[in-house]
Amino acid sequence: MKNNLTITTLLIAVLLSLSANILGQDQPKASGTSVFDPTAETPDVNSAVPTDVEELFSYLKAGSYKKFEAQESSSHPSRGPHTNPGWPVRVFLDPTVNASLETGSKSHPIGSSIVKEMFDDEGGLQGWAVMVKTHDDSAGGKGWFWYETTSTTSAANPVAAGNGVQLCQGCHFIGKDFVLTTYPLQ
Ligand code: HEC
Repeated sequence: MKNNLTITTLLIAVLLSLSANILGQDQPKASGTSVFDPTAETPDVNSAVPTDVEELFSYLKAGSYKKFEAQESSSHPSRGPHTNPGWPVRVFLDPTVNASLETGSKSHPIGSSIVKEMFDDEGGLQGWAVMVKTHDDSAGGKGWFWYETTSTTSAANPVAAGNGVQLCQGCHFIGKDFVLTTYPLQ
């Protein structure tokens, strides 16, 4: 029941944000065929987790985020579609976003970085979701770099990569400055 409610809430959030976009806010329409088209520039903010897509994939593949002290103690079923509802995920927070969440900040500093490992239903690692804050103003999601891949072997075709990815921000805008993970970490 609780899960159903969460999913319903998230769906409503997506619909609300989509309609806000249609109602002529400053979001340019995604061009081309992909709903993941980024709508804003990604500046290099020297974050713990890189935003250059090639560099990021190597970083993820090497498991470099595992050095972050702030990490969930084990994987748990995702409340979102990462990558299938209910499949296990595990979140790692860099020191910047961890300190910000710890003090209950409403807005996280530039450079805040989060990596989420995504597993299949047999516990095999099958990709990552990443968020890095690149601007002071989250600007409806354009101030965050969003990235998701469902491959652990090839950097070629990420599901999402860039600032202002509408599908990601559509769910995440109900979070604490776009962060949805339960905090303190479990
Ligand atoms: C339908 C809703 C939904 C969509 C769409 C969505 N997410 Fe999430 N995301 C969640 C939820 C819920 C969590 C909290 C952890 C969990 O239960 O998986 C989460 C957690 C995360 C986290 C860990 C940090 C945090 O905010 O908790 C990252 C990183 C992330 N998502 C990235 C992305 C990216 C990148 C996209 C777009 C490709 C995306 N998400 C799309 C629901 C969503």
